[in-house]
Amino acid sequence: MHEEKILVIDYGSQYTQLIARRIRENNTYCEVLQPESINKKNAFNNAIGVILSGGPNSVTNDNTYDLPDILFKNNIPILGICFGMQLICKKFNGTIQESTSREYGKAELKVIKDVKIFEGVDKSIEAWMSHGDSVTKSPDNFSVIASTNKKGLSAIKSNEKEIYGIQFHPEVTHTLDKGKIIYNFVNNICKSSGNWTTKNIIDNQISAIRNEVKDDHVILGLSGGVDSSVAAAIIHKAISKQLTCIFIDNGLLRLNEKNQVEEGFKDFKNIKIIYVDSSKLFLNRLKDIIDPEEKRKVIGKTFIDVFQSEAKKIKKAKWLAQGTIYPDVIESAASSDKAHLIKSHHNVGGLPKNINIKLLEPLRELFKDEVRKLGIDLGIKPKLINRHPFPGPGLAVRILGEVREDYADILRNADDIFIKMLHDKNLYNKISQAFTVFMPVKSVGVTGDGRSYGNVVTLRAVKTIDFMTAKPFDFPFDFLEEVSTKIINNVPEISRVCLDISSKPPATIEWE
Ligand code: XMP
Repeated sequence: MHEEKILVIDYGSQYTQLIARRIRENNTYCEVLQPESINKKNAFNNAIGVILSGGPNSVTNDNTYDLPDILFKNNIPILGICFGMQLICKKFNGTIQESTSREYGKAELKVIKDVKIFEGVDKSIEAWMSHGDSVTKSPDNFSVIASTNKKGLSAIKSNEKEIYGIQFHPEVTHTLDKGKIIYNFVNNICKSSGNWTTKNIIDNQISAIRNEVKDDHVILGLSGGVDSSVAAAIIHKAISKQLTCIFIDNGLLRLNEKNQVEEGFKDFKNIKIIYVDSSKLFLNRLKDIIDPEEKRKVIGKTFIDVFQSEAKKIKKAKWLAQGTIYPDVIESAASSDKAHLIKSHHNVGGLPKNINIKLLEPLRELFKDEVRKLGIDLGIKPKLINRHPFPGPGLAVRILGEVREDYADILRNADDIFIKMLHDKNLYNKISQAFTVFMPVKSVGVTGDGRSYGNVVTLRAVKTIDFMTAKPFDFPFDFLEEVSTKIINNVPEISRVCLDISSKPPATIEWE
């Protein structure tokens, strides 16, 4: 139980998680709550503030999300953003005008009143708008505190209570308030004590793990990804030799993955990592399968088989640790009709339900950036922590059609050249995810004096905040030319290098 928290009610905005992260950046714990759960017992225990998110719906013809009285019972400060502001207006008899078109983009915001929420904010700033309906008349007993030259009111405040509504989005960096609006709400209005710090999170988790696990043993599937690595690090710190990590090589890993893990955990004395090479088994079972979903299923099932047989060898294991993080928890809680852009989760791992083992998930309250900070503080090497995400089914989603060992080897070599060059040119940390995709087609090339037929690979690099939407990374042309030449010169099976410039949506990040 947390001593204090801010609740973010999720009305289906693409920015809900961003709001939550902005609160966490202010060293304050927050939880994302679905509107259906507002009435649940204990939902508001220890809540020091509430933020109502934006959302794609309209309050004018739909009462589904009308705010219940319970929300206002204890005078907890409330900030409504966009749709959240419209809900507040509707509750207190303001006027909301329906619109068929969206106002989207930058607007100049003028602060009209000196109120706590605008402390330290310039009198005139650029603000990010993304809304359809507008509030055209302030509700009873509310004042307008900011406006833009666009239609409708931009910010309002209750004359008596700490209830605010703002039409723009303070959580996105396009709103140039230097983070002050959320800072003011969290610190000056909700009066957070600011004790959600990396050190406190680590200390609290370590005692929680010790209390739960006691003398039992824990097993953990270590993949080389950030989440399982940080979960391993914190559990190891808590119970040391009672943890056994199992690293399964499924033949679909990147080049030198095992070495990267060994290197990443170099400073962890006595950490038990069992390396299992099951690549032959995985690749045999994948033979002749071309359907992407089928490939995923085979890999998932094989992983469980191997993991289970390894886990059986650890006699006293009563716990299975997983690197589940907060976005996974939120996404599975959100109802499917409301969350408009849901990341598909097809993580390989876990054990069948019939096995008698308890789940330990020390990162389930944390966002990825918090997990990374924890990892660094716990002593994992930054290179491992700052790696781009890598999907559970590995290279199987990056080899189109049948997965073959020779294809995987070609892809590994090409991808390694690409990724190394991104590091060399200081581009790696500017990109959210980069990788190479193998096409099982042949294309003509000239090598030496003759014609040759080689395979084609495609480079993919995207920038994204949440992996639900993404933009292609804008490479300098010199880089592309150099990397393509290097790949073709060093991987003889490859004759051609392409670049994927699609956004998500409509494309996805992986190719499958
Ligand atoms: P898509 O291709 O759906 O990918 O745009 C979004 C993000 O999810 C990652 N991804 C996975 N991650 N297990 C994972 O842990 C999976 O099965 C999986 N499939 C896709 C993908 O790499 C991207 O970051």
